[in-house]
Amino acid sequence: MQAGPSDHRIDHAAASPQAWEPGDPLHRPSDAALFFRAWLDNPLRAGAIKPSSAGLARAMAARVDPSVPGPVIELGPGTGVVTAALVERGVDPSRLVLIEADPVFCELLRERWPRALILRTDAYTAPAVMRDLGIPAAAVVAGLPLLVRPPGDRLRLVLDCLRQATPGAPFIQFTYFVRSPVPAPRPGLRAHGSAMVWRNLWPARVWTYRLTDRRPARVRR
Ligand SMILES: C[S@@+](CC[C@H](N)C(=O)[O-])C[C@H]1O[C@@H](n2cnc3c(N)ncnc32)[C@H](O)[C@@H]1O
Repeated sequence: MQAGPSDHRIDHAAASPQAWEPGDPLHRPSDAALFFRAWLDNPLRAGAIKPSSAGLARAMAARVDPSVPGPVIELGPGTGVVTAALVERGVDPSRLVLIEADPVFCELLRERWPRALILRTDAYTAPAVMRDLGIPAAAVVAGLPLLVRPPGDRLRLVLDCLRQATPGAPFIQFTYFVRSPVPAPRPGLRAHGSAMVWRNLWPARVWTYRLTDRRPARVRR
């Protein structure tokens, strides 16, 4: 069918880096172009128009203690800017479990960190994935656009991930908003927000959540 004059749809497949074949690093578009393509395809899932800055990525990684044993789980790694900061911080790539929904990002991550476990799936299944790993996680680091989900889902994700982690382990998440994206602090869950990281589009804060000794209240469905 021919496009009429009123048909203003953009042919993203032709115009975007989607045409790039994974496994062809020489002709790979830049991370920024891949990210923009992801945003065009699914803005709510991408949650940003470009990857986080190295400064924000390092601020996230700084909250992970690489000497604590166990896997380090990353939710929504995108093109891997936080992943790179975790490795720079001293986390061996073989400890990384990267859970990402976007297939193109998954291919890119596989190319960059072949020793990491890369799962193309919904990050909200992370608690089940972590349970199946059979080893408590040292930390969970997330770049998810949490606010597209109801508050109960966000809280359940954090609590259920932390229950599969080493006692005292952090769940680390950034947000462009001042307030915590998870309804916390609350009984059983501590929350700490960082100072603003200005060198990022948009400026962001890093929130760290940890279980306390008190039993967390049940989250209503
Ligand atoms: C705001 S971007 C952050 C990317 C990267 N961490 C960074 O800081 O540059 C959000 C990422 O989460 C992924 N994502 C969003 N929702 C997801 C879900 N439910 N399951 C898995 N990945 C998801 C997106 O594909 C995207 O890569």
